[in-house]
Formats: sequence, structure tokens, C-alpha cells
Amino acid sequence: MTMTEALIERDYFSDHEVLKDPYGFFDAIRAQGPVYRPPGRDYVIVTGFDEALAVLRDHEVFSAVIALQGAAAPLPFQARGADITAEIEAHRLEFAGGDQVVNLDDEPHSRLRAFINTLFVPSRLKASEAFIEAYCNDMVGRAVADGGVELIGSIATPFVTMVVADLLGVPTADRQLFMDAIARGPVPGALDGTDPMAGGGEHPFAVMGSYFYGYLADRRAHPRDDILTEFAHAKYNDGTTPELHDLVQLGMFMFGAGQDTSAKLLGNSMKYLVADQELQSRLRTDPTLIPAFLEEVLRLEGSTKQTARLARKETRIGDVAIPAGTKILVALSAANRDPRRWDAPDELVIGRKRIAEHVGFGRGKHVCAGAPLARVEVRVILEKFLAMTTRIELDRAMHPGGIAGLSYEPSFIIRGLEKMHITLAPAAGFVAPGLAARPDMIAT
Ligand code: HEM
Repeated sequence: MTMTEALIERDYFSDHEVLKDPYGFFDAIRAQGPVYRPPGRDYVIVTGFDEALAVLRDHEVFSAVIALQGAAAPLPFQARGADITAEIEAHRLEFAGGDQVVNLDDEPHSRLRAFINTLFVPSRLKASEAFIEAYCNDMVGRAVADGGVELIGSIATPFVTMVVADLLGVPTADRQLFMDAIARGPVPGALDGTDPMAGGGEHPFAVMGSYFYGYLADRRAHPRDDILTEFAHAKYNDGTTPELHDLVQLGMFMFGAGQDTSAKLLGNSMKYLVADQELQSRLRTDPTLIPAFLEEVLRLEGSTKQTARLARKETRIGDVAIPAGTKILVALSAANRDPRRWDAPDELVIGRKRIAEHVGFGRGKHVCAGAPLARVEVRVILEKFLAMTTRIELDRAMHPGGIAGLSYEPSFIIRGLEKMHITLAPAAGFVAPGLAARPDMIAT
């Protein structure tokens, strides 16, 4: 058996070797063709860039109903015939998260998506950025004052939870409770098959949802001058008012969607910075390069490895015939390294031409709604880390195996480090947050 044969036979959804190096796995799959059904599987994997775009953009033919459960999970019905649109709708609620925005199709999706987009208008983003600036100053400042930190659990996760809490207007006094609930929650797309909604009343969405319901009910009865009141009274484009339940569900989805994704993007970006001190110095000297660096990290190691679609009509992708009912793993991380689209695809190159075309945030109608916010939050926190330090390194005492020994969250959706301890050498003139600038506080 050749190496490639051994690789393509591995199970993407449960194999821990594939978890470590999904790129090698997808390269081996791509070598068989940009659209390929692995031996013994009932789904196809799309690794080609053009083919991935073709799937993500064709909303007529491809349903998003399996985006959350993934391509490996069985369908709740037997697909028959050349068009299964009606069956999908009849069984929609039997799909994991079938009524969540990312899984919806057609008019129900467009209606909800237009509503979500109102959360990300420029004025709202500006207010978020001001919050992010202040919060990062304090959080990163404290880490630098300590000389180091565990980036993922102590910084990235609470940070991104706070950003969504701020976006949705969760009262400051309750934010810690939201952070604690999220920290206890299950991994999305768990390799061990854990139900993402397991945990009943203890599930973070149940805990946070009941608070959220309370805020919104209160604001509907007693409007105030705050974001929650705006949210509670917002209307769909057609002038109708959403049910409270739907608003709560949407709020919880925002916490989920903006959680591991953004937190892990920060970790993945930092991994490249500690691996290459020259790159780190370059960005520290010229922070205007940070956005281009982030786009390249999103391409090279974006935090969403894949999504999934279900062919609701008989079709073709490239030259492969696709019967209705075919489940499709759209390997975003592979499309982003397709050598037919990207020169030197495995290298980090700042300033690539047409880098914005990467599919790290997906494409088509379901393209990430929170992308502008994710870009701001990760850019600002990296700016702070670089500005407050002279050198950031992987803490070798905590990670004796170095970068190659770091471990990844066991998820088929998310690409991101579980933990990353870093050491932080303060910049000249660094002043710890909350302390007045005194000469004895300034590092030399
Ligand atoms: C680096 C961070 C992020 C990455 C890599 C990311 C990635 C993605 C991807 C790939 C999709 C498309 C899924 C599909 O087509 O099946 C998506 C959808 C979505 N994301 Fe993000 N996301 C990030 C951050 C965020 C944040 C911060 C929020 C909100 C606060 C958010 C909210 C959403 C929503 C609401 C959708 C569903 C859009 C729809 O179905 O119309 N995301 N995200």
C-alpha cells in the first residue's frame, strides 16, 4: 500500500493523525481529483478551489442543511429521485441545527440573514472596535506584565466571548457568567462524536439563552436606550416582528459562531509569529501589514477547515456526476491551498495577489456574517501584543516538543490549538494597565 492510499483511507471525521495534519490528508485526496469519493464513504470531498466555489455559490442545487452536522452523519430519510428538496424540508428539524441560520436555505435564510446583517452595520462595528481596543489594552497589558500567558484559554476564549456579549449588549455584570458557561461547553464538530447540543440545561446555550430571553422580554415590556432594546424591537425586512424564541436562538448562534472560530484564528496567527521572529519583527515595525498577514493566515490555516452541503438536485461538480442526496464535504482549507489557484500554496506570503478570494469565511449567501468583526478583533489584539512587546516566544518549558508538538482541538470543523503558552518580553516604556507611568514600572 502506498503512502497516498494509506492516507485517503483514513477517516477525516475521527482520525487523530488527520486532525494533526488535515492539509496532508486533503493533498492526498486532491491527488485523486478535486471532487473525490473516498473508498467506503458515502460522501464526496471537494478540495479544488473552483469546485468549492461552484458548490458554495449554487444555492439552487446545494442545500446548507448539513452544514452543522457535517457530511459523515446519516440523512434522516432515504434519498430517492432527481430532486429531494421537498424531503429535506419535511425532515429539516431532524438535521442537527436544521433551523439555525447556517443550515437554512432559500427565503427563510435570506430573511434571517438580512436581519443579522443589521448587527454588523459600520456604526455598530465602530462601537465594537472601541470596546475591543479598551479591553485588549487591559487584557494584553496584564499578560505582558506577567511575562507570559496561556493564549487560548486565558486570553482568546474570554476575549471573543466578551466581544459578542458587547455586540449583543449583554449587561456587564452578567458577562462573567456567559464566559464561564462557554468555557464549560462542548467542542463543535467533536471527533469523538459528542452531540454538540449535549448537556441539557447545563449546555452554555441553555444557560445563556435563559438570561438572554429574560433581557429581551424585559426590553420588549420596558424599552430602554440600549442595544438589547434595539435587538428586542428589530423587525424583519417585511415588517414583521421576530418571535422572542427566534431572537434568543439567533443570539446563541452568534456566540457559537463567533467563539472558537475567532479564538483559534488568534492562536493560529500567533503560531506563525512565534515560529518566525523575522516576520514578527516585520509586523511589529509595520503594523499596517497585520491585515494582509491575517488574510494569509485565514487562507493558510483558517480556523474553519470545512463545511458541508447536500445536493438536493441531480447535478455535476466539475466532471463528476452527483446524484441528488449526495453529501459533500467542502474542504475550505484545501481549496485555500489548491495549487491550481495559489502559487506556493503552503507558504505564508504577505501581499499575495487577490488574497481576498480565499474561502476562509466561506462564500455565497452563507459567507460568514461576522467576518468584519472577526477581522477587527484579531487585528486589534495582535496590534496590542506586538506593540507592548519586543519579543513573543513559545514557552518551551510548557511545550518541550516545540511548535510541532502542539495539540489541536479535536474537531472536524475547527482548526485551532488547544493550548499555547507564550512568553512576552515587554517593550521599552511598557506600563502595566491600571498603574500610573512611574520610572520604576518601565521595563528597560
Ligand atoms: C475567524 C473567525 C471566523 C471564521 C473563520 C468564520 C467562518 C465562517 C464560515 C466558513 C462560515 C460559512 C459556513 C457555511 O457556508 O456553511 C461562517 C458563517 C457564519 N459566521 Fe463565521 N467565522 C468567524 C467568526 C465569526 C464571528 C465573530 C461571528 C459573529 C459574531 C460569526 C458569525 C457567523 C454567522 C452568523 C454565520 C452564518 C451565516 C449564514 O449562514 O448566512 N462568525 N463563518
